[in-house]
Amino acid sequence: KAPGPVLGVETSCDETGVAVYDLDRGLLAHTLYSQIRMHADYGGVVPELASRDHVRKLLPLVRETLARAGLGVGDLGGVAYTAGPGLVGALLVGATAARALAWSLGLPAIGVHHMEGHLLAPLLEPDPPEPPFVALLVSGGHSMLIEVAGIGRYTLLGDTLDDAAGEAFDKTAKLMGLPYPGGPALARLAEQGRAGAFRFSRPMTDRPGLDFSFSGLKTQVLLAWQASDRSEQTKADVARAFEEAIVETLAIKCRRALVQSGARRLVIAGGVGANRRLRAELADAGAREGFSVHFPRFEFCTDNGAMIALAGALRLAAGQHETPAIAVRPRWDL
Ligand code: KG4
Ligand code: ZN
Repeated sequence: KAPGPVLGVETSCDETGVAVYDLDRGLLAHTLYSQIRMHADYGGVVPELASRDHVRKLLPLVRETLARAGLGVGDLGGVAYTAGPGLVGALLVGATAARALAWSLGLPAIGVHHMEGHLLAPLLEPDPPEPPFVALLVSGGHSMLIEVAGIGRYTLLGDTLDDAAGEAFDKTAKLMGLPYPGGPALARLAEQGRAGAFRFSRPMTDRPGLDFSFSGLKTQVLLAWQASDRSEQTKADVARAFEEAIVETLAIKCRRALVQSGARRLVIAGGVGANRRLRAELADAGAREGFSVHFPRFEFCTDNGAMIALAGALRLAAGQHETPAIAVRPRWDL
């Protein structure tokens, strides 16, 4: 049975996200504070600074989210929070606040797997995909293909052997001197790039299997970039060729996973799911080959509280919740 409005709290990395989701009424409100500007000076996320900023922002965001939803704490039916994987200090801020709130209000609490949140984010959109479907989860920390038979019934079909797709974007962007976070910056630059000026390989597509490997690509880019005239146009050309290589590799493996599993629905989620070329390429492939493609809206591709509130509401409705002990999992297989 539906638990009533569920408060969702996400603090696994560098975004503080809060939302209220109700299984009957949908998403009632969501707020997000991104720490990206603070970490940009250091070229990447500084874990201790992340934890401290979550402490500053979380409770004000909870108040604001409840106000936007027109709810008081007494109207809530449960509290969900990201319990991992992620930065341990950052996770503990959200877990402690969420568990304390649930405890003080006598509400059930549930720790959500961050990647399950990403995986279910397309269910926040109109016309959500029914399981079974295949999910491509591509973020800064993960590149996974997952067969979804139902809520909580996940089979890992493929994983990255080295860098995650988002990590490959970020590292390649860094070596070309682009600002943090590199993924969106590189994607923007790629729009100015000319087709066919450079070509990089599509790693591991010439043999069977659904695993990924992206670390070799960044070396190819580095060598091509160092041997070039290093003009602004060349930089954009290299960015475009790199983006095409990643996108085509992901698309090939998605189609392979659909064939292997027999599913006709594909879900794309995680930060790299915000990439326009990836979205366009897979939407085209789906239209051509007869499978449906489902993405979260752009803001729910990257980290957010809405996906955690949704995943928590589904799990609470299934009768799952936790004992009062507080535990987080910096590493956690899906
Ligand atoms: O899901 P997310 O916000 O955090 C993790 O759970 O990791 O994903 C962040 C990742 C970063 O690597 C970022 O560079 C990448 O997603 N990203 C993109 C784009 N927007 C975010 N990569 C390529 N193109 C984009 N438009
Ligand atoms: Zn994430």
